[in-house]
Formats: sequence, C-alpha cells, structure tokens
Amino acid sequence: MATQPKSNARKSARSEGRASAKASPEQRGKRAQNVARKSASTAAQRPKATQKSLSDLLEHGLKDMYYAEKKIYRALPKMIRKADHPELKRALEEHRAETEGQIQSLETVFELLGKRARGEKCEAIDGILEEGESLLEDFGDSVASDAAIIFSCQAVEHYEITRYGSLRAFAEELGLEEIRDHIDAILAQEKAADGKLNELAEGSINDAASEYDTEEESALA
Ligand SMILES: [Fe+2]
Ligand SMILES: [Fe+2]
Repeated sequence: MATQPKSNARKSARSEGRASAKASPEQRGKRAQNVARKSASTAAQRPKATQKSLSDLLEHGLKDMYYAEKKIYRALPKMIRKADHPELKRALEEHRAETEGQIQSLETVFELLGKRARGEKCEAIDGILEEGESLLEDFGDSVASDAAIIFSCQAVEHYEITRYGSLRAFAEELGLEEIRDHIDAILAQEKAADGKLNELAEGSINDAASEYDTEEESALA
C-alpha cells in the first residue's frame, strides 16, 4: 500500500512529461498565458472579497440599528399598556418618544453618509424582542409583571448601548465627527433610559415583585 502513492506520482509525472514533451512551444505558450490569466483574475477577486472595511461595518451597524429602533418603537406600546407602576409607564412613554427622535437622527446620519436610510434585518434584536413578548405572556398578570418588563427593556437598552458604543468609536476612527456626535446623543439617551429602569427596579419594583416570595418565606419560617 505504501508504494501506491509513489507509483501513482511517478505515473502522473511521466504523463505530464509526455504531455509537455508533446506540446509545441506555441501550445506551451498558450498554456502559460491561460495560467497567468487565471491567477490574475483570482488576484483581482481576492482584494474584492476583502475590500470591506470599517466604513462598511459602520454602515452595516447603522442599518441594523435603524431596523432595531423601528422594531423597538413598534414593540413599546404593548409594554406601556402592561406596565402598572405609573413611573415605569411614564419612563417607557418618554423613551418611545426618544426612540422616534433616534430614528430621525439615524436618517440624518445616512444622509450625511450620502446613503439612503435603509434597515437591515437584525436577528439579535428580533430575538430580544421575541423573548420580551413571551415574558409578558408568562408574567404579565403576576406581581412580577413590572419587574419582567424592566428585565426585557434592559436587555434592549444594553444591546443598544453596546452597538452604539461600537458605532461611535467607528465614526471617531473615521473622522466622521458630525456622525459621531449624533451617535453620541443617542447613546446618552440609551444609557439614561437604562439608568432610569435600574432606579425603578431597585427602588420599589423588584421589592413589590418579591411580595409573594416574602410571604412564602415567612410561612416557611
Ligand atoms: Fe434606541
Ligand atoms: Fe433604547
């Protein structure tokens, strides 16, 4: 078995030798030209495939966020309707109004880039919002309803914070100061919204949601 590859190699070397021996100088020249043409076209394709750069990533991320903001804007009314705590309701309403402004802000950013504002389906935000929907179904009628709404909304805010944080850095790197400032303003709103949700959760909402747990604990004591 060990000799098989060797003999095959010898065979193919012999046949190659025969082929090149039989080929006329003209044919050999043609073959060389073909190889050169083929490798030149591969080389031309290679840079094309790797031409994507930070500005493309910025544009891709902006499309993702444009899609995300629109979806968040449409998802918030259900959360607002279900929210019980008046301050939570107000915070979500305010953030929905901010979200509308963020959508417009992103449109301005696209304009500054000379591109048409266009969203790109983002499975990450789809997943986060779907989870929020199912949490509302599971907890919507329980004492933990508001805590569950905050739980979902903070996942959205953190997603937005991480994405806008990266996009801001990309714009900064590319020297796109006006765009960086727009992203910065959005990022500040997302951080403030997250902070407000934290405040509400830790202030009273988590405590209210644990009421039943506390009763159970007392019953066990
Ligand atoms: Fe947002
Ligand atoms: Fe947000």
